Amino acid sequence: MRMTVIGTGYLGAVHAACMADLGHEVLGVDTNRDRIEMLANGLAPFYEPGLDELLDRGVRNGSLRFTTSMAEAAEFADVHFVCVGTPQQDGADRADLRGLHSVVDELAPLLRRDALIIGKSTVPVGTATDLASRAAGLAPADVRVELAWNPEFLREGLAVEDTLYPNRIVVGVTSGAADATIRSIYRPLLSRGTPYISTDLHTAELVKVSANAFLATKLSFINAVSDMCEAAGADVVTLSEALGYDERIGSAYLSAGLGFGGSCLGKDVRAFIARARELGIEDSLSFLREVDEFNLRRRQRTAEMARDVVGGSFAGRNVAVLGAAFKPDTDDIRDSPALAVARAAQREGARVRVHDPKAMDNARAAYPELDFSPSAEKACEDADVVLHLTEWREYSDIDPEILGSLVRERRLIDARNKLPLDRWQAAGWSVRALGRKAS
Ligand code: UGA
Repeated sequence: MRMTVIGTGYLGAVHAACMADLGHEVLGVDTNRDRIEMLANGLAPFYEPGLDELLDRGVRNGSLRFTTSMAEAAEFADVHFVCVGTPQQDGADRADLRGLHSVVDELAPLLRRDALIIGKSTVPVGTATDLASRAAGLAPADVRVELAWNPEFLREGLAVEDTLYPNRIVVGVTSGAADATIRSIYRPLLSRGTPYISTDLHTAELVKVSANAFLATKLSFINAVSDMCEAAGADVVTLSEALGYDERIGSAYLSAGLGFGGSCLGKDVRAFIARARELGIEDSLSFLREVDEFNLRRRQRTAEMARDVVGGSFAGRNVAVLGAAFKPDTDDIRDSPALAVARAAQREGARVRVHDPKAMDNARAAYPELDFSPSAEKACEDADVVLHLTEWREYSDIDPEILGSLVRERRLIDARNKLPLDRWQAAGWSVRALGRKAS
């Protein structure tokens, strides 16, 4: 089937490449010329495992093209996926829907045939209905535009896998025809038995924000228990493992530590609360405010632990930071807990040196006041403390003996609970971790 994918950020670029991989003819659309040029050359504008190969294949076999022209998009297909960002509004908790509005405002008047617009962005409940009337008002009188919502659950770092092998497909539709179109787009996935939930627009929109709010709650819960473990002298890693065997709880998303960051969980929780307020049910979701605030306090707590470890003040201390991305396997630094801790130490007078395998360019551009090192070893030279803040696999392979010969003091904080601490201790490191006994 022919389709456009409008908005080629983390979500749209992956969706476009994957739809081409499923055999569709895809036109990716974005206003950002540099990004479109890279994509048209089969190159991912950000680091996402597996994406370069898919883009390259799609571009070379002609099933995937890119443009900045909305007129070309309107002419090319009658199915338009919309994947533009819905960030947090400046100075407010609500989602900023201007990107979505401008897509509809530009696309609808250009349509010459009936069309289906399928939103994938994460939105406050009610958005799809509003966009449907907006599109209907702007489209030519003889053109029927229908809106559907098909939220996306992909995780950065696993985006290609999550798109090609999703654990469910959720669609909100207002007609059987729209449902049939979406089913045929995803036929290769449905034939593999992927659960397909077809519902109304409001429910589909809410599934996505509820999923992210639930995940955020699960993390803040385990992190709160982590504080209890630390205070009582228990071990949160063992506790998580033991909880995870209970199928009702599940082992995924139960790694305690520095807490969640990234462009989704925090802003979606805030937008969910804001929408609840607009709908007059703020009290029902008030616990989410604490989920969010508690999560942000993890960063402060980690900085305090580091300050404590170097003797009560960061002034004149060398702090090595391992990790800048908000999580491993991505170069995305949006709302990165690691960089929040690095900046807090730097603001209090520490000399902070940061390393990350993939996110250095993004981190340097956003925070030029921090120092960046080309290797973990270089970042740790003469360090008074090493902070493990993003759990890249390569950090687990570090030889603590060799690193120990480079630092000024063998002091480690594992804020992600992912390092083999017994090896570090055996090499003479004093180790602190969130939710575990100090040693
Ligand atoms: C999240 C959701 O997991 C996706 O389902 C959703 O589609 C996406 O948001 C979105 O709304 O676009 P993502 O932000 O890519 O995906 O990353 P996650 O893997 O969910 O991690 C979020 C944060 O939680 C990271 O900072 C990570 O380090 C942290 N985390 C995750 C933990 O601290 N512990 C865990 O056990 C899991």
